Amino acid sequence: MPVLKDYHQQKVLILDFGSQYTMLIARRVRELGVYSEIYPPAISRDRIRQFDPKAIILSGGPASILDQGSPTCPKELFEMGVPILGICYGMQLMTHLLGGKVSKSKKREYGPAELGIDDQTDLFAGVLKKKIAEKESAKLHHDSVREPLTGRREALGIRVWMSHGDRIEKPPKGFAGIAHSENSPLAAIADRKRKIFGVQFHPEVAHTPLGKYILSNFLFKIARLDKLFSPGSFIENTVKSLREKVGNKKVILGLSGGVDSSVAAVLVHKAIGKQLLCIFVNNGLLRKNEPDLVVEVFRKHFKIPLRYVDATDLFLKKLKGVSDPEQKRKSIGHTFIQVFEQEARKAKGAEFLAQGTLYPDVIESTSFRGPSSKIKSHHNVGGLPEKMRLKLIEPLRELFKDEVRMVGAELGMPDQVVWRPPFPGPGLAVRILGEVTRERLGKLREADAIVREEIENAGLGKEIWQYFAVLLPVKSVGVMGDERTYENVVAVRAVKSLDGMTADWADLPHPLLGRISNRIINEVKGVNRVTYDISSKPPSTIEWE
Ligand code: XMP
Repeated sequence: MPVLKDYHQQKVLILDFGSQYTMLIARRVRELGVYSEIYPPAISRDRIRQFDPKAIILSGGPASILDQGSPTCPKELFEMGVPILGICYGMQLMTHLLGGKVSKSKKREYGPAELGIDDQTDLFAGVLKKKIAEKESAKLHHDSVREPLTGRREALGIRVWMSHGDRIEKPPKGFAGIAHSENSPLAAIADRKRKIFGVQFHPEVAHTPLGKYILSNFLFKIARLDKLFSPGSFIENTVKSLREKVGNKKVILGLSGGVDSSVAAVLVHKAIGKQLLCIFVNNGLLRKNEPDLVVEVFRKHFKIPLRYVDATDLFLKKLKGVSDPEQKRKSIGHTFIQVFEQEARKAKGAEFLAQGTLYPDVIESTSFRGPSSKIKSHHNVGGLPEKMRLKLIEPLRELFKDEVRMVGAELGMPDQVVWRPPFPGPGLAVRILGEVTRERLGKLREADAIVREEIENAGLGKEIWQYFAVLLPVKSVGVMGDERTYENVVAVRAVKSLDGMTADWADLPHPLLGRISNRIINEVKGVNRVTYDISSKPPSTIEWE
């Protein structure tokens, strides 16, 4: 058997200077097959040495290097002999620290721009050829390009995304310009001897259509890395390290039916088989058929030991009379921990608790911006590991959500689970405004099933981030047959989003909206009006609460 090469042997260190695109840099590098991690620029030298990066990327950021107190990084970084790519602010900082000159641009450059490539030796090698190959798609975007270049310059130009107010006036010693734009005569610089490169534009964003080839040149031509990171290599490595860590001990895992805990369960089970016990608490707030699907997938398909606890009565009892959204969340969170703890104690001899923590949660605690402000209390099994003396294992803590989905698919998990849209821990309770009762849950569950079925049948399931129904706390007048009615209103919500942080309302085809509305009014007893939510986030949120 070939010796398994661990992707941790070739890691890229990304220093985050606060750019909104930093996570995107990490994802692009990983998509290209190299494992990367994000750290704040104040990272200590020891930590950098311990991390042992094989390449370093300095992100962009909102600050100006000309301002007092703008973020910086240890200068020794440039003496480690590790290839470095500075992006936007990262390039300006590098220029500043190495003795070049940065000044304010006369004109801020924000948006699409043409980059003239002056040197195709390494960072831009083959990029113009790719441009010809992708000309069709470039044509589609042509309208948004400012002042297209003409003649010889056009042949050497590519479309890039700029977002900067400063520019490089004089490169540091040893550097030469390798690309220019209208407002930045030095839009890319290189010191080939030290393998240090800088680009003024953002190769990581989709608006730089050939950016992935530039990043790929940096990783493979300049830093000479191998493609070691893939869903398959992640699974092999994780299974191996889980076996070493857990030995012959027992592990418990709280299954919610969501992508993260489901993939974590299948992965841990692949590593340690029957030593894993999954506990699935039905809080009575799940969507139609969901509990059955979870039981079916885990018990029947994957043959994973699963304890199914139907705690609907207890959750509803605790929610009786509660209308305040935060109160609802707290009540559900506490009840969940109570039930889960009771069940976990029955699993005698368990030493580990497995959780589906993802990489964005990990960086949030150490990020440039610091922990993000808590807007809503999310429910999890907080506090349980210490109380029960369980050691935590988090097999997905290196992954982004889309990578978790790819790992799930590689593990043979069904689309229904792998592509399940995000669903809040407190479930349908945050989609019922006002009191949560068994009867109101029944109405919402039926309406929600119709929304999902229609959108999925229309083939729009994967392209829309979340789609669901909300039961409002008001009644409105209607007429059915000859009778005047006074019944419930259901709002339909469908949004497009990349990460849930911002979202646009989805412009669903009107016949589809018509079908959804007709079916809800005809099939769900007690609903006489359907509205469609056309607000984006911000300033609205995705859930109504
Ligand atoms: P909002 O409503 O704040 O939601 O725009 C952003 C995203 O977070 C999801 N959400 C949750 N996910 N536990 C979760 O795991 C929760 O308590 C929770 N609350 C909201 C929401 O569905 C959307 O995708």
